[in-house]
Amino acid sequence: MTPHTLITAFQQAGQGHVFAHFEHLSASQQAELLADAAEVDLAEIAELNRTLVQKSAAAGVDLSDLEPAPYEALPKNGGDAAAWAEAKRLGEEALKAGRVAAFVVAGGQGTRLGYDGPKGTYPVTPVLKKTLFQVFAEKLLAAGRRYGRPLHWFIMTSHINHAATEAFFRAHGFFGLAESHVHFFRQGRMPAVGLDGKILLEDKHRIAMSPDGHGGSLRALDRSGAVALMEREGIDILSYFQVDNPLVRFIDPAFVGWHLKTRSEMSSKMVPKAYAGEKVGHFCTQRGKTVVIEYSDLPKERQEEKDAAGKLRFIAGSIAIHLLDRSFIRRMATGADALPFHRADKKIPCLDAAGNLVKPEKPNGVKFELFVFDALPFAKNPVVIETDRADDFSPVKNAEGLDSPKTCAEDQMRQFVRWANANGAGVPADSTGLPPFAFEVSPLFGYDEDSFAASWSASAAKPSISAGAVLK
Ligand code: UTP
Repeated sequence: MTPHTLITAFQQAGQGHVFAHFEHLSASQQAELLADAAEVDLAEIAELNRTLVQKSAAAGVDLSDLEPAPYEALPKNGGDAAAWAEAKRLGEEALKAGRVAAFVVAGGQGTRLGYDGPKGTYPVTPVLKKTLFQVFAEKLLAAGRRYGRPLHWFIMTSHINHAATEAFFRAHGFFGLAESHVHFFRQGRMPAVGLDGKILLEDKHRIAMSPDGHGGSLRALDRSGAVALMEREGIDILSYFQVDNPLVRFIDPAFVGWHLKTRSEMSSKMVPKAYAGEKVGHFCTQRGKTVVIEYSDLPKERQEEKDAAGKLRFIAGSIAIHLLDRSFIRRMATGADALPFHRADKKIPCLDAAGNLVKPEKPNGVKFELFVFDALPFAKNPVVIETDRADDFSPVKNAEGLDSPKTCAEDQMRQFVRWANANGAGVPADSTGLPPFAFEVSPLFGYDEDSFAASWSASAAKPSISAGAVLK
C-alpha cells in the first residue's frame, strides 16, 4: 500500500486524525508512523468499536447452561491411580521421542509488579536470586538430560521487551541451553482507542500500540514460523506456561499422557479453589463445550454454590497451564475459528487534540486483548486434570502481599522441604511447611519429586541442608 492509499483508508475509516501531524514530521518519523499504521486492521478496529467500545453497557458474559467442568482428580483425591500411572508412562514415551516442546508467554507488561524490564529477568529464588528465565532454562536442561533429548523452547515476547529479552539470554550464554533450541518471537500488537473509538497516538509519529494479550500467542506462533519449525522437528505438543510462575512443572509426563490418551487438542491443569471468591478463572462446561469463566464474570452466589457433600460446585480454578496440539494451533491461527477480543479500560498516556501529551488520572481509553483460554471451546476432547497447587503454582504478580516475590520464595522453599523430607533429609519446618532458614535446590539437582529423588539417591554423601545451602 502506498502512503497515500494508507492515509486515505484511515480518513475513510474516520481515523484520519492519526496523520494530523504528518506534514511536520521528519522523513524517518513519517516512515515510523506509516509502519505503525500498516499494522492496523481498520475493519477489525471498526468492528471492535461497534461491539466492545460503543456499547453503552458492557455486554454480559453468557452464563446460560453453565455447569462445572469435569476433571481427572489426583489419585489421592479419589482419581484412578492406574489411569494416572498409564498417563505418566505414555507421557515419558512422548518426551523421550522429542514430541513435546516448552512455550512461555512473556510478552506481558508486568505493571502490577512495577519492575523495569522483561518480567522473566526478575530474580526469584530464595538464596541465589536466580531469575525466572534461569529457573525455566535449568528445568528444561535437566528434563532434556533425563529424557535423553534436548527440548526446544519457544519464548513469546512483545515489541516492548523483545530486544531486552534476547540480549538477556545472550549475556547469560542461554543458561547452558543450545542456542539452536531457544526460539524467540514477538506477539502481535493492537492499537488503543479512546472512549470515542478514535485511535490514540502516543507521539506525533507513533500510534499507541500494546501487546494483543496471551491469546495472541496462537496467531503469533503460526506467523513467526514456530509451528513450521515444530513440524520439521517432529514436535506435536506445546507446553504453555506463564513467565511469572517459577513453580510450574511444564515438563510433566502425566499431563502429557492424559493429553495423548484422551486425544485432547488442548488440555489444562486445575487446582481446587482455595475459597469461593478466589480470583481465578473457573473451568465450566456450556452446551457441550469447555469454557473458562473469569471470577469477575461469575456471580458471587454461583461462586459459592455447594454440592450435596458441601463442596464448592465451581471448584476447578484455572492456573494458565495448558498443552496445545500443533495442528490445533495452526487451525486456530488460520481457520475460520477466531478468539474474541476482550475490552480493558486503561489509563493510556496519549496526545490530546492539540498534540500535547496527557497522562490521564483515570481510564481514558480501551485496549483490546485476546485470552488463550478462549481457545478451549474450539478444541476437540479438551481434558482438565487436577494438580497440587503447591507443586505447580505460585506466581509473582504483585510487588507485595498476595502472589508477591515473598510468597513465591516461601512456596519454593516449602517445595524444597517436601522433596528433601520425602527422602529422609529431616529438614525442620513450621506448621505451614516453611523451614526456619533459607535454602534452595537447583533445578539441575531436582526440578520435581522424581528428579530430586534420583539425584538424592545418586549422591553418595547426602547433601547437608542448613541456612543458605544450595543443592546443585
Ligand atoms: P498477566 O495477565 O499477569 O499480565 O499475564 P502481565 O502483563 O504480566 O502483568 P500486569 O497485569 O501488567 O501486572 C499473564 C501471562 O501472560 C503473558 C504475561 O507475560 C504472563 O506470562 N502475557 C500477557 C503475554 O505474553 N502477552 C500479553 O499481551 C499479556
